[in-house]
Amino acid sequence: MNDNYDFNIKRKRPEEIWNNVTDYFRGEILRQYASSKSIMKIQEKITIRALELLDLRKKDALILDAGSGPGFAAIYLNEIGYKTVAVDVISAFLNYYDIKDLNPIAADMCYLPFKPKTFDAIISISALQWIYRDLRNEQMYLMLKDMSKSFFKTLKPNSQAIIQFYPKSKKIMEDIGKVIVKNTDFDGNFIIDNPNNQKKRKIFLLLVKNR
Ligand SMILES: C[S@@+](CC[C@H](N)C(=O)[O-])C[C@H]1O[C@@H](n2cnc3c(N)ncnc32)[C@H](O)[C@@H]1O
Repeated sequence: MNDNYDFNIKRKRPEEIWNNVTDYFRGEILRQYASSKSIMKIQEKITIRALELLDLRKKDALILDAGSGPGFAAIYLNEIGYKTVAVDVISAFLNYYDIKDLNPIAADMCYLPFKPKTFDAIISISALQWIYRDLRNEQMYLMLKDMSKSFFKTLKPNSQAIIQFYPKSKKIMEDIGKVIVKNTDFDGNFIIDNPNNQKKRKIFLLLVKNR
């Protein structure tokens, strides 16, 4: 892999403009996101790749979709036979489609309301950039730290979390890895698809809980 890929991102992403995700995803923006067939297809494609990286052996695994939005990942996972729980901080997303089979729960993914060792895997698609995007922001640092502890606690031993996200810079991406490894017993590595094509690039963080 060429390590010199750049993050020369010119257009501001919503998470740079809006402080809180709940202020951005509301009203018409929320409706447009949730009803978009093209976003649904893109998110499903990312979920398929995330599953490939997870390499789950258990056919009826229980998977947490963290930051599920309207449930694009969880809907797909459910269709192919996995049991899912969809968590999002915006309940209007969870109510957009009838997803009661996906066990929707309105909660903050940094403070998951589950017993320890509940899930066989965690998938999080396009949500982490809302939690951590500014190196100097103490609040964001604490949320990332708490999220990683919460993921570690709710995963079963010998299981994994896969997180796809859009960091603003390589430094932020690497910082995220460092904060997680420092505060948990996760082993982790980044998988970067199409590293040299900014438009097609997809960044995944695979976290392994060994015990
Ligand atoms: C770009 S959307 C992606 C939604 C979905 N994963 C998908 O692939 O379509 C980002 C989602 O992350 C959720 N999110 C951001 N911060 C969160 C938090 N702290 N706890 C739970 N959900 C959060 C937002 O509410 C939003 O639904």
